Parts: sequence; structure tokens; C-alpha cells
Amino acid sequence: MPDTPTPPPSADAIRGALAGVVDPELGEDIVSLGMVRDIAVSQAGQVTVSVALTVAACPLRSQIEGDVTRRVASLPGVSAVQLSIGAMDADERSALMARARWKAKENAAPTAVHPSTRALAIASGKGGVGKSSVTVNLAAALALRGLKVGILDADIWGFSVPRMLGLEARLEAKAGKMIPLRLPVGAHGGRIDVVSMGFLSGEDEAVMWRGLMLNRAVQHFLEDVDWGELDYLLIDMPPGTGDVQMGLARMLPRADMIIVTTPALAAQKVASRAADMARRGYLRVAGVIENMSAFECDHGVSYPLFGSGGGQRLADEIGAPLLAQIPLDPAVAAGGDAGRPAVLASVASAPRPTEPSPAPASASTPGEQSRDTVLAAFIALAERIVTEVAPAVELAGCTARMLDHIETALGSAGPTN
Ligand SMILES: Nc1ncnc2c1ncn2[C@@H]1O[C@H](COP(=O)(O)OP(=O)(O)O)[C@@H](O)[C@H]1O
Ligand SMILES: [Mg+2]
Repeated sequence: MPDTPTPPPSADAIRGALAGVVDPELGEDIVSLGMVRDIAVSQAGQVTVSVALTVAACPLRSQIEGDVTRRVASLPGVSAVQLSIGAMDADERSALMARARWKAKENAAPTAVHPSTRALAIASGKGGVGKSSVTVNLAAALALRGLKVGILDADIWGFSVPRMLGLEARLEAKAGKMIPLRLPVGAHGGRIDVVSMGFLSGEDEAVMWRGLMLNRAVQHFLEDVDWGELDYLLIDMPPGTGDVQMGLARMLPRADMIIVTTPALAAQKVASRAADMARRGYLRVAGVIENMSAFECDHGVSYPLFGSGGGQRLADEIGAPLLAQIPLDPAVAAGGDAGRPAVLASVASAPRPTEPSPAPASASTPGEQSRDTVLAAFIALAERIVTEVAPAVELAGCTARMLDHIETALGSAGPTN
């Protein structure tokens, strides 16, 4: 009897084999990730597979190529394997990122951050660009709207939030959870709840936490703090692109990253590395804030002391919106040193609608005028975040809230009742 050659495998069988090729960076197989585009099989058992990598210059390219070839070649009936490697387009890439984020979310450890809280990580490639200043002033602007805002000071070694908010106390614990320090803001019930290594300083606990990996300290702040039902949690990130960034992506993958940069080109380059890091951790980069933008003197002349255009260039480069340009203004630094963010200082000095207008002489000193541009920039930024970038989650009528109600009802209607 003549040898009957093994018939070539079906495209489905090949797809099945390819489901065993895992993209080690994304932690999922290339079929589920949508990276396998086409499979063609000839009568003679020649197989052509086209694979779309996330980017053409993917560092894992040769590993994925090798795995694909080996898997397909090992199927009975395959005489040759040809690979055609391409790159995903922007849409395919964002679909893949969405999937990866969803997966990371599924596997994430539970934190004490309420599911309805919007988490925004304020990050940059390097220190001194104004992350902490932006964090406290944005928190103030959000709280002025009556929102409940938390600040998690993740800059374990270089914390500055306590000083900038004029908060000095030790954190209390209740039922095994740390209670954040609270700063009531404005007349609409807004507040800022803060947790920082600065509130543990000088205590054995601080020494202990600093001795551990930075990441563990941030995890501690995410898991063991009674954050309650905040509208927003702002996370003041340490500079750079290290462990804390990756840890946050793992522990709180729903966090959005906001990148702070200065108008200078050099800072923009460093910031773009931070954005890149965020992406690899599947965090969404929600936008860019340019800080220390053109300084405007009392005569209205604009001085771009730190260059110009860096924020927009970075935004273009990473495909995220430029959310705000915060002017360089001594009031920001002064507010930080005085423990009263510029935003709150200028609101306090602004005449209230119910009060008679102050005498013209004291109506607006040059200092107040400059603070007002800072105030306006942060008010506009808060508005943009609340309406467009990360709208507060409205729980009324949503499933999570209904489940809460049902559970409470069931809990109160005990078996003996
Ligand atoms: N818009 C601004 N105008 C003037 N000074 C600013 C501004 N933003 C930040 N600063 C000052 O720059 C320094 C670094 O800011 P900071 O918020 O501590 O940066 P980071 O947290 O990125 O290290 C501080 O002294 C701060 O007061
Ligand atoms: Mg800082």
C-alpha cells in the first residue's frame, strides 16, 4: 500500500496551537490578544501565519516568532511554516490595552479604595516639576465643588503633602484601619482626606514601613486606610518610573495617570518615559498638565521662563490631551510653604458675593491678581476632570449600590426577626 501523506491541519487546529503562545509582557496568549491575523494552509502543508505585534520593534519579537514557528511546525501534516510579522494599528492597540486592563483588574487584589472612587495618579519622570503642588491645589479645587477628595501621598521618602496642607498630626487607627487626616474645604461640604508617611514620621511605625519596600508602604496605604466613599483619590507619586508605578498598576489598575511636565523640552522627554511606563503597566494616561508655564507679571507681560510648548508636545507625542497650563507663580510656592494651597488662599481673599465690595484700594493687590490666574487655572482643570476626563461615578441606581442596599437589608433582617 502506498504511504498516504498526513493531511494538513485545519486553520482552527493551528489557531488552537497558537493559543499556547503567551506574550510574556501582557501575560496572555496571542490568540486571545487578537495578535493572530491570518492563517493560510496549502495542500502540501505549508502554513503561513500573520501575527501583529503591538509595535514593530517589540523586544519580544524573536521570542514570539520562535514560539509560533515551533508550535505550528510540531503539528502533524505541516511541511513548512512561514511567518509574516506586522504591527497593530492604533485602534487594535487600544483594544488590546483595554483587554489587558480588564484582565489586570480581574486579578487585582482588593483595596480599601471604594469602587466608585476615581483614582488619579499624578506622576512625572523627575522631581521638582510640581507634582505635589498640583496634587494639593487640584484637590482643593475639586473639594471647593463640594467633592470628597483623598490624597494618598505615595512619595514615601520625599513626602511634602503634609507641609503643603499645613497638616501635622499622627494618624489614628480604628478597627485596624488608619483614619486619614481631614481638612474641610469650602462651604459645600467638600473635604480633603490625607494619608502620608509624614504622619507616621518619627514613630517606630514609619521606620518600619520605610525599611520595607516602598511598594509595600503604598500597598499599606491602599489597603489599610479607611478611605470611605471618596469621589476622587489623588495619588502624589514619587518621581521616576520605578517600583511604585508598577505596583500601583498592579494594585489599582483602574487608576488613571496624569503626567506633569514643565514647558522645557528636557522635562518633556523624561515625562514621556513616565507615560511609557504607565502604558506598560496598562494604566490609562488621562492627560498632561504643563506646570510652571509662562509667568505673567503684574503688567500683563508674559515671560516663558522655562521655555514653552513642552506640555503640548508631550500630549501630542503620547496621544493624550493637554489638560491645563498652570502658570509659574510665586503664590504657588508661597502657598506650599505656608501650608495653605494657593487655590484656597485666593478663594479666602476673594470677596464673597454676600459681602459688600471691599474698598477699591484693597480690591486687588498685584499678589492677589497673580493668585487669581493660578486659581482660574486650577478651577478650569477641576472642571475638565469632573466633566470630561474622569467624571465622578454616580452610584444612585447603579447595580453596585443596589447590591449594597440588598446586603444591608438582608443583614438587618436577621434570622430571628
Ligand atoms: N506653578 C508654580 N509656580 C511657582 N512655583 C512652583 C509651581 N509649581 C511648583 N512650584 C515650586 O516648585 C518646587 C517643586 O514643586 P513640587 O510640587 O514639590 O514638585 P514635585 O512634587 O514634582 O517634586 C516647590 O518649591 C514648589 O513650591
Ligand atoms: Mg513631590
